[in-house]
Amino acid sequence: MHRPVLLAETISSLAIAPTDCVIDATMGYGGHSQKIIEELIDPSGRLIGIDQDLTSIAHCQEKFKDTSNMTIVHGNFSNIDTLIQPLTSKPVNKIMADLGMSSVHLDTSKRGFSFQKSEPLDMRMNELNPHTAADLLNHGSAEKLLKILKEYGELNRPDRFVEIIISTRKAHPYLITDDLIVAIKKGFYFRNSRSLYMRTCAQVFQAIRMAVNNEVGVLTSFLEKSSELLAPEGRIAIITFHSIEDRIVKNHFASLPNFKMATKKVVKPNQTEVKHNSRCRSAKLRTYIKMTDEPTA
Ligand SMILES: C[S@@+](CC[C@H](N)C(=O)[O-])C[C@H]1O[C@@H](n2cnc3c(N)ncnc32)[C@H](O)[C@@H]1O
Repeated sequence: MHRPVLLAETISSLAIAPTDCVIDATMGYGGHSQKIIEELIDPSGRLIGIDQDLTSIAHCQEKFKDTSNMTIVHGNFSNIDTLIQPLTSKPVNKIMADLGMSSVHLDTSKRGFSFQKSEPLDMRMNELNPHTAADLLNHGSAEKLLKILKEYGELNRPDRFVEIIISTRKAHPYLITDDLIVAIKKGFYFRNSRSLYMRTCAQVFQAIRMAVNNEVGVLTSFLEKSSELLAPEGRIAIITFHSIEDRIVKNHFASLPNFKMATKKVVKPNQTEVKHNSRCRSAKLRTYIKMTDEPTA
């Protein structure tokens, strides 16, 4: 089951007016979109939901089939400007993104996002994209794999693991998640610690997923385009799950003098939410307001 993360906090920080034009750039299973629609009670209020995953698109088309003021579009949020251009001439007042994969990707997609399931090593959020996790593992250079594991997986010493992949992949190509697990077990030391083993698996899988979906590159492009697109007084809320993403969001808005934070500090899930949804424990919400005039120094 998918539980929307920081739901009340995100909706309240966006301060949605009934007539707003809102973009949910990561519609997923429609948890945040549902709440946004409930705020748009004026017939002129409008929600555009974007997702790059066709399963999510099909799910939301059914879920929101009777919602007249919502449009759903398949695509990558890095193209937010061109995706919404044919859909609305209204200024965009609010934008939100809840980054990464959904619980549905982990639980039922059968695309290799979970290290606890035996599935093909795919990991593409958009199945129309050409390159899978198996392609990366079977053809990526040692330098590229090391960089991905250090930067996105925050793994200190992935060298032995990468050597194992490079030396075994010709005879035994990496095709399913079990193949990767075998290499993880050989390539890292766990000192008999189950939690260290689980954490390492999660870090390796996360790093490969981030690389397969170019998650850092598309986030940068999304932030640049969204900042332009947003009308004055508009707000943008981003939920991140990784320190790299959070840093990118923070630095991006710090470099724009006409944006200020809408909340006193970064918003994190409370203990009750973490208790009910352990996957949200690393979530951070940053919401920014686009000011009408650039402040004078
Ligand atoms: C954490 S889930 C969002 C869940 C959603 N807020 C909800 O409550 O159901 C992230 C979703 O964003 C989508 N996604 C991730 N990166 C994307 C991108 N670059 N462009 C469009 N969709 C993206 C994923 O396919 C996934 O469905």
